[in-house]
Amino acid sequence: MPLDFTRRQFACAGAASLAALLPRGIFGATSAAKNAVIHADVEIGLIRPEFHSNFAEHLGSCTYGGIWVGKKSPIPNINGLRKAAVDFLKELGVPVLRWPGGCYADDYHWRDGIGPAEKRPRHVNVNWGKYVEDNSFGTHEFIEFCRLIGAEPYFAANVGSGSPQEMRDWIEYCNFPKGSTLSDERAANGSPEPFRVKYWGVGNELWGCGGNFRPEQAAEEFRRFATFARLIGDRDLYLVGCGPNGNDARWTRGFMDTLQGSRMPNGYSMHYYENGSLPSTQFTPEAMYTQFNLFPRVEQAIIEQRTLLDSYDPGRNIGLFLDEWGVWDQLREDSKGRLWQQSTMRSAVAAALGLNIFNRQADKLYMCNIAQLINVLQAVLLTDGPEGKNCVRTTSYYAFMLFKPHRSKKAVRVEYDGDRLPMAPAGRGGRGGQQPEPPPDLSMSASRQDAEMIVTLVNPRHDVDMEVDCAIRGASARQARAQILHDSNINAANSFDDPEHLTIKPHQAAMDRDRLRITLPAMSVVTVTLQVA
Ligand code: AHR
Repeated sequence: MPLDFTRRQFACAGAASLAALLPRGIFGATSAAKNAVIHADVEIGLIRPEFHSNFAEHLGSCTYGGIWVGKKSPIPNINGLRKAAVDFLKELGVPVLRWPGGCYADDYHWRDGIGPAEKRPRHVNVNWGKYVEDNSFGTHEFIEFCRLIGAEPYFAANVGSGSPQEMRDWIEYCNFPKGSTLSDERAANGSPEPFRVKYWGVGNELWGCGGNFRPEQAAEEFRRFATFARLIGDRDLYLVGCGPNGNDARWTRGFMDTLQGSRMPNGYSMHYYENGSLPSTQFTPEAMYTQFNLFPRVEQAIIEQRTLLDSYDPGRNIGLFLDEWGVWDQLREDSKGRLWQQSTMRSAVAAALGLNIFNRQADKLYMCNIAQLINVLQAVLLTDGPEGKNCVRTTSYYAFMLFKPHRSKKAVRVEYDGDRLPMAPAGRGGRGGQQPEPPPDLSMSASRQDAEMIVTLVNPRHDVDMEVDCAIRGASARQARAQILHDSNINAANSFDDPEHLTIKPHQAAMDRDRLRITLPAMSVVTVTLQVA
């Protein structure tokens, strides 16, 4: 595993790969030889489909205008829900969808979003632009959307400006079958069947927009809310406590020390954004590499936070969540909605670097939610503004597609010339330091179930093709079939004029007596399916 490398081993590996540089590759860039070994019989852990979960906030044009266009919209819709988004997301498969925030969650009162739409109160969104929203999208609309796309709902309850009673009532409204005032109100609002919501976040970013709590206070709040957030109905609740910003050990210690001896959360959520210093479509290779180099720090954060949690929870009963992650580029204008950001070939590589980490650390994670679903930050779908008729699948959508075959397989150990050691600790979500950083290197992960093995390989270099020679140990492999997402232009994207500019294509891969040989062109994500025995 790359992160198990000592500094000396890493220096040697780096030198070895430099020495292997060859004159020119077939795609015009410099070519580098890379060696890898997949240990098909050394299992890491289950790749939970939940690693590919998503997040939708009342922010910009994610919910209003992205998911929700309204029942009277000329845009094709299913009960007000954008049909193109439903179709694309159903095809992708979104295991779990978190809602309504983000920062918005701690300013959201669920009762505002139920009952006849014309009677719902209007609310100023104080976090994201102070526009007035009419609450036409609420609990019932969100649940219907989840059902249409096949996602499990994950509610973030309001701690910062809410109360334990408000959360407890929301649970009863959603989950109690019938006969109580709240469950009968749900039925009267059109849903006699309970929603049976399992995942409940107890606040969001309580260290910041969720209330600016200290970790000890946040833990006290968790204890108070969890006392009343009980099983109501037949669905076991999974309560998620608020974890740190990035790899903040002080927060985790303060939170967990305070909770010791009382009910522990079922899950514990950290957030880690990979900030970028330029607008999405204007990246330079240097700025891109600085952003990519945050990913080894994400991996370090997962390892270190899990180790800390283990000291309180040796049986690993508490699931580690990374329920906000993704590239957050420099944002200059809001004409298509706040935090609207194009997804480029760079973004797809970034998504793949993250997803490879989740595979390699599969034993330490429970759920990961990229931010966000539509039109905000690293979205898998984009529309051309809130009124936009067009809906395109982004490069990030296709990166997730390439990882879909890993779902529910067992991650297995991979060793390779690549990735690199985490360097100096970084700030919020981990901004890099001022020093120029070395370019990133090959990233890989592999998984196996029965006779099928999946390998994903990422070349994050803009100027180097990689010739990978990968030995398979612990199983004999045959029949390699590969698919690729690639563009040597780091800023290439799917636009409304050219929505299929970047899509997944077949790619050459060869098996030669238990060795997989494959070329990774500069800026590419490749998935190889192997038959193994
Ligand atoms: O995803 C955008 C914002 O980032 C969320 O509202 C908040 O939780 C985080 O700071």
